[in-house]
Amino acid sequence: MSSQDNNKITNTAKFQDEFGKFSKNYSSFRPLYPDSLYQLIDETVEKDKRSLAVDVGCGSGQNSIRLAALFKKVIAFDPSEGQITNALKHDNVEYHVGSAEKINVPDDSADLVTVATALHWFNLPIFFKETERILKSGGFFIGFTYGFHEISNNEKANLVNRELHETTIGPEYWNQAVRKLVDGGYKDIVPPFKETKRTSLKFHTRVSIESLIGHYSSWSAYSQYVKTNPDPLPQIKEKILEAYGTTDDQSPIVECEYTISIIISKKD
Ligand SMILES: C[S@@+](CC[C@H](N)C(=O)[O-])C[C@H]1O[C@@H](n2cnc3c(N)ncnc32)[C@H](O)[C@@H]1O
Repeated sequence: MSSQDNNKITNTAKFQDEFGKFSKNYSSFRPLYPDSLYQLIDETVEKDKRSLAVDVGCGSGQNSIRLAALFKKVIAFDPSEGQITNALKHDNVEYHVGSAEKINVPDDSADLVTVATALHWFNLPIFFKETERILKSGGFFIGFTYGFHEISNNEKANLVNRELHETTIGPEYWNQAVRKLVDGGYKDIVPPFKETKRTSLKFHTRVSIESLIGHYSSWSAYSQYVKTNPDPLPQIKEKILEAYGTTDDQSPIVECEYTISIIISKKD
C-alpha cells in the first residue's frame, strides 16, 4: 500500500509563503528545540553514519544548526526566500531555496532526513517518495512538531492564550488540514517505512510578555487574520499584562509548556 493510501490528511495546496514576510519574527520568537530532542537523534542515528543530514522545510534554521553539531554536513531547504535569507549561519550548514516535493540531493545520499514543524505543510505522498529516494539504506527519517503551547503558571493568561488560538483567530484563519495533523500529534501521518515508531517529549520555556506577543505574530493564522481584520495583539498584550498584574513586558515571567510529537522511521 502506498503512503498516499495511508495518509488520512494531506496538504495539496500550492505553496504560499506564509512565513517569509514574518521571518524575522519567526526566528526571534519561536521556541528553540530542547536538548532532549537532539539526545534522541544522537541515540538513534549510529555515530559512523553521520555524513549528511537533510533538513526539509528548514525555515530560519533552528533545527538545521542543531543537526550541524551531530553531522559532518547539513543541507537545508525551504521554499521561502525570506526564511532562507534570515537563516542562522553555521559552517556545516548549506541553505537552499527548495521544496519538500523536489529535494535537490542525489539518490541514496542522506543518513538522515528531518522535518521540524513543517511536515504538515507538505504534499506527503510526493515528499515521502523523495525521502525514500534520497535516504541511504539504513538511513532515518525523523519528523516532529510542537503543538499549541499552554501557559502553565497563570490560568487567566492561559485563557487569553487559548481564546486567541481557538476563538479570535479560530478555525477560520488556520489551514484546517494543517491544524488537524498538528492537533492530532501527527498520528494521521504514515511514512512508507516498515520500521516506524512514534514518541513525544515535553519542554518548557520562560519568555517575556513581549516575546509571547512576538510568538503569536509568527503564526501563519495571524498573518491571514490581519489581512482583513484589525491587529488583535495590542489588546491581547493588555490582557496578559493584567493577568500577571504587571506593566513589565521584558522580564521572562511567562512559562510555556510544549509537547513535541515525533515520528522516527528507518529505511530498510
Ligand atoms: C513552522 S515553519 C518551521 C521552520 C523550521 N523547520 C523550524 O523548525 O523552525 C514551516 C516551514 O515550512 C516551510 N514549507 C511550507 N511548505 C513547504 C514545502 N512544500 N516544502 C518545504 N517547506 C515548506 C515554510 O516555508 C516554513 O518555513
